[in-house]
Amino acid sequence: MKAVVYHDAFKVSVDDVPDATIEEPTDALIRITTTNICGSDLHMYEGRTSVETGKVLGHENMGVVEEVGPGVSQFKAGDRVSVPFNIGCGSCRNCLTGWSSFCTRMNPTEGMDGAAYGYANMGPYDGGQAEYLRVPHADFNLLRLPSGTEHENDFTMLSDIFPTGWHGVELSGMQPGDRVAVFGAGPVGLMAAHSAILRGASEVFVVDQQKDRLDLVREIGAVPIDFSAGDPVEQITEATGGTGVDRGVEAVGYQAHDHSGEEHPELVLDNLVQVVRSTGGIGVVGVYMPEDAGARSDAAKEGRIGFQYGTFFTKGQSMGTGQAPVKRYNRQLRDLIIAGRARPGFIVSHELDLTDAAEGYDRFDKREDGWTKVLLHPVR
Ligand SMILES: NC(=O)c1ccc[n+]([C@@H]2O[C@H](COP(=O)([O-])OP(=O)(O)OC[C@H]3O[C@@H](n4cnc5c(N)ncnc54)[C@H](O)[C@@H]3O)[C@@H](O)[C@H]2O)c1
Ligand SMILES: [Zn+2]
Ligand SMILES: [Zn+2]
Repeated sequence: MKAVVYHDAFKVSVDDVPDATIEEPTDALIRITTTNICGSDLHMYEGRTSVETGKVLGHENMGVVEEVGPGVSQFKAGDRVSVPFNIGCGSCRNCLTGWSSFCTRMNPTEGMDGAAYGYANMGPYDGGQAEYLRVPHADFNLLRLPSGTEHENDFTMLSDIFPTGWHGVELSGMQPGDRVAVFGAGPVGLMAAHSAILRGASEVFVVDQQKDRLDLVREIGAVPIDFSAGDPVEQITEATGGTGVDRGVEAVGYQAHDHSGEEHPELVLDNLVQVVRSTGGIGVVGVYMPEDAGARSDAAKEGRIGFQYGTFFTKGQSMGTGQAPVKRYNRQLRDLIIAGRARPGFIVSHELDLTDAAEGYDRFDKREDGWTKVLLHPVR
């Protein structure tokens, strides 16, 4: 089958690889209809992870069940499904309490709970930027979708970024009526803003410097804040009459940079601590790493990010972090899409044949104007 294979920094290609197959009785084999490139894939693409050469990438997957193992009872060939990026066993302490993103069993990597498809340090699982994908513990992990092709570009956001944006808002402790500041207007930040609006935020600010992304912020009824035009904390403080916001969402991650492009991994965390009111909450879904060989400082190489912890403490703020447990939200978010309330597909900018994936990576990575979210479709 054809699949997107990681070779080296800035080098991916669509290669012929062995077909994905059923390996365990509880597996399902999915024929991919849509698979997205994620900002998380770019950390690997830019050579900023320890992902191994030869890895098949892709954790944002949906498609149609092709075949199931004898231990799968809830799905059958022909069912249309969304595949959460987390791979849970369904029966460990974390899976049982709704934290499938920290499954204690599926990732053999020392010191890491939580497994995913096609990702550095997240276990030996191939990704779904391919014609077929093997899904372990299919009864637990798959989400059923209405058959047909309706809402494909909305449903494809259910595997990761719509639940992830929602989770960022959830971790922030947002209540209806709250003001929210989201840092990062990439796909995840835009989904967080969409989620905050759906959940009844009174005002949502979204910070970035990419003009095309800030246009989308305006389009969904949030307030764009351009950090190339001045300190975002000052801009939001002024717009809120000096009080700041109740909640903040971090949707940038460890490659946060200043206006000139220089990386400062503490920058957005500092901005959030400053702009969120005392006793307010911060949800961090942008990724931070325990090690980052490409970091500028020795501390950051060891994952030590020196943000304004003293101010954070003094303000009595709270912070939630980590990979999103997609399964906790995807059913309800699916139903918001079906009901016409949510339309996360608004961020889709490009749909490419799987065979053009290398171009998609290159242009999305350069954040070329208008390259907000790239979907890949295997061609048959
Ligand atoms: N926690 C999870 O489960 C989860 C899931 C998916 C993605 N992620 C992570 O979320 C982050 C965002 O993903 P994405 O797909 O939106 O990526 P992206 O790279 O497309 O978007 C990041 C955006 O942040 C902006 N940015 C950079 N520095 C900034 C700053 N100082 N202030 C404000 N904005 C700034 C960039 O211009 C860009 O538009 C990544 O770190 C990704 O790995 C986490
Ligand atoms: Zn993703
Ligand atoms: Zn588990």
